[in-house]
Amino acid sequence: MANLLEEIGKRKTFGIVSHPDAGKTTLTEKLLLFGGAIQEAGAVKSNKIKKHATSDFMEIEKQRGISVATSVMAFEYRDKQINILDTPGHKDFAEDTYRTLTAVDSAIVVIDVAKGVEMQTEKLVEVCRMRKAPMIVFINKLDREGKDAFDLLDEVEEKLKLNVLPLSWPVGMGQTFQGVYNLYEKKLNLFRPHSKQQQDEVTVIENLDDPILEELVGEKAANELREDVEVLTEVYPELDQEAYENGELSPVFFGSAVNNFGVKEMLDCFVEIAPSPLPRETEQRMIEPTEKKFTGFVFKIHANMDPKHRDRIAFLRICSGVFQRNTNYLHVRNEKKMKFPNPTAFMASKKSVVDEAFPGDIVGLYDSGNFKIGDTLTEGEKLQFKGIPSFSPEQFRYVDNANPMKAKQLAKGLDQLMDEGVAQLFTKEESGRKIIGTVGALQFEVIQYRLEGEYGASCTYEPVNLYKACWIESENEEEMKAFIKRRRKDIAKDKDGKLVYLAESAWGLKMMQENHPDINFHFQSDF
Ligand code: G4P
Repeated sequence: MANLLEEIGKRKTFGIVSHPDAGKTTLTEKLLLFGGAIQEAGAVKSNKIKKHATSDFMEIEKQRGISVATSVMAFEYRDKQINILDTPGHKDFAEDTYRTLTAVDSAIVVIDVAKGVEMQTEKLVEVCRMRKAPMIVFINKLDREGKDAFDLLDEVEEKLKLNVLPLSWPVGMGQTFQGVYNLYEKKLNLFRPHSKQQQDEVTVIENLDDPILEELVGEKAANELREDVEVLTEVYPELDQEAYENGELSPVFFGSAVNNFGVKEMLDCFVEIAPSPLPRETEQRMIEPTEKKFTGFVFKIHANMDPKHRDRIAFLRICSGVFQRNTNYLHVRNEKKMKFPNPTAFMASKKSVVDEAFPGDIVGLYDSGNFKIGDTLTEGEKLQFKGIPSFSPEQFRYVDNANPMKAKQLAKGLDQLMDEGVAQLFTKEESGRKIIGTVGALQFEVIQYRLEGEYGASCTYEPVNLYKACWIESENEEEMKAFIKRRRKDIAKDKDGKLVYLAESAWGLKMMQENHPDINFHFQSDF
């Protein structure tokens, strides 16, 4: 068996987050090119749903096929094994992204230089912060006119609440973009648009006082750069690794992903500073990656696109020890032993069966319906990893069976789609009616379509006027009982039998919270 410590030290597992169109897919592709995992540009298909297609759920199905291949992309760079976990940018799939971020150890945040910090970026950074994932910021599209670099740093600090530390700095922008100065290595790399340059062909200037700088970039840009660098060196401290790891400091890089400029600067720094697999919390205790015994959890489930093959792929993040093929492991929730003859690893878009995998790695397990998101596998210890919550949905509809002959199929289909995390199902206490809750409206169409295609069941929806579903609990049993009795028409159970309060309005929810201080209303299931 390979040396566990050494393997852990090599792993860097991260996610790239951005508002759609900031350049996440393009950046991913350039990183894979550096790692030699792909040979040409265009090999990574964007898994985003184009704006004009937001109501076209067939498009989603197509994207679903693509996104198996791009769920995890692994490559090697400078002796490190880098695992990139793909995160959907579309806001209707935000919950998928939140869950994927439970499986990373750090994140790269991509920002469009012209648009600055956008809404989705703010939300995703908030989730990374909750996960305590350290972040590196990449400001993209410097080949276009955009905001002033200093202003952008202020915006990032203000809106994303990150303490920034610029490690590269642009020389010009848009038409006048000439390169980036690497503050980390104190080198200037000059930009040649659309050239297929490898980094070693780039002109590098080691000393900014060298008069050759004027010759190369012109007097104005040379002076500006010298001034900027002087200010930056005065204002910003040296890179403090510990502060970065604690999420207290975020290095910032500037570049143009599509032109492959400024990407290598970031990657070189990333492989050096990004954390190796970190300890993970379970309900019972902290799990160190170096523990000999294997543990892991499922953060994503992907159904087969072919309705004739109902199998699914469960994505398992390995948290400690060594995962081995064909070895019996305990599925803690089911209290069942399971072994996996064909665990799959994802090297770029290629899948291959692996014999063993290490902390930080993601393996795909073929599953015939045993897993749901958040499930834990161990060598026998009864553990449950924390922090894989369901979030309070924002869109609700009653779901009814449209074909009485297919009630069973509907129940099974709904059950499995909920396990996959497509949406959440609540059953009202009083009427027994079922309500589907989602983060985005698209999921309703997806569910209907997949129920028909994969389970031969059909459903209809009916509007229901709800604002939020909150999980409720209290230490005061009497109060809880009385509350449930009084508000029975607004009480439901989630799929795991947890009690949920269905609030019709923000105002109503606020009143409830005020009137029942002994009852805790949670906006996520993991409390
Ligand atoms: P996303 O995954 O974050 O949604 O973004 P994606 O990489 O798909 O990039 C969105 C658009 O921005 C793409 O253009 C892409 O080519 C462009 N882009 C990415 N990086 C840069 C950059 O550094 N400079 C400039 N000028 N553009 C960049 P598109 O027209 O939507 O798609 P495509 O037809 O070019 O693929």
